[in-house]
Amino acid sequence: MKKRLEGKVAIVTGGGSGIGEAICKKFANEGAKVVVTGFPEDPVKNVANEIQEAGGTAIAFAGDISTEENARRCVETAVTEYGKLDILINNAGVFPEVNLLQDYSEEAFDYMIKNNVKTAFVMSKAALPELHKTKGNIVSAGSEAGVIGIAQNTPYGGTKGFIHSFMRGLAVEQAQFGVRCNIVGPGPIDTAWTHESTGPMDSKMVKSIKQATPMGRRGTPEEVANVYLFLASDEASYVTGATYMVDGGITLAKGPVGEEADSSMKKEPEGELELEHSKDGHTSIRK
Ligand SMILES: NC(=O)c1ccc[n+]([C@@H]2O[C@H](COP(=O)([O-])OP(=O)(O)OC[C@H]3O[C@@H](n4cnc5c(N)ncnc54)[C@H](O)[C@@H]3O)[C@@H](O)[C@H]2O)c1
Repeated sequence: MKKRLEGKVAIVTGGGSGIGEAICKKFANEGAKVVVTGFPEDPVKNVANEIQEAGGTAIAFAGDISTEENARRCVETAVTEYGKLDILINNAGVFPEVNLLQDYSEEAFDYMIKNNVKTAFVMSKAALPELHKTKGNIVSAGSEAGVIGIAQNTPYGGTKGFIHSFMRGLAVEQAQFGVRCNIVGPGPIDTAWTHESTGPMDSKMVKSIKQATPMGRRGTPEEVANVYLFLASDEASYVTGATYMVDGGITLAKGPVGEEADSSMKKEPEGELELEHSKDGHTSIRK
């Protein structure tokens, strides 16, 4: 059976950890050549090596892709190494602080604008000339917080709201060049961000994840990667400007209904990927 991304070249930003690692490995399993992109401190080389060891094709690009220069270099890396670019996944993002707005730091706000908003702008801008040639596509990470907001990290919800409207506008604008643009909106996913021990969430927020989610659990990085795979593949040839929520129903939920979830929904699937960096994600401010 033909692999679903056979012959495609993909850049995955934030590919060293969490959901990004799963996207890189899923795409490589489906035949894509992957540029695993992240901050120099992220385990991007490690993820690229693991893909190669498993028989896939990947290289690492280590750099802060919130600058135009690094975004251009990242796209150049894909084209120099693999001859073209078919898919850009704007997955990079940060979640540095949980606080009431009256106490929220300007530093964390600026950090999110740089890493959640500007990264998607400069990477999309740099990639488009190549995507025009291949009739490729962009999928960006929105969030349920970008649709309904999030208390105690209200600026984060705002940065994800930017992604939702930015990508919808881009979908309409870029159809004339044959480029599709879509959004994946994760709910609470089992990465560093949603654990008290590895991210900024307090115990109340962590508890409310299960209570407010109709399916009664976090999603796995692989469950999110599955939806990226569909949207990035030719199977989604008539899908553009769409938002696919991968959220266990939390965006629609009206209250703490997770405790009532059916036990079959609460059981995590085993999955097929060997994910080494699910909880290695970047949760503090890097100077
Ligand atoms: N985990 C969740 O519950 C959740 C929910 C909704 C949306 N999301 C979105 O999914 C995406 C991935 O989140 P995750 O939970 O896997 O977090 P993560 O911290 O594991 O992954 C994000 C990666 O992006 C990298 N990154 C950030 N800014 C960068 C930059 N300027 N240059 C290079 N690399 C950069 C980080 O270093 C990190 O490796 C984010 O965009 C996030 O907003 C996550």
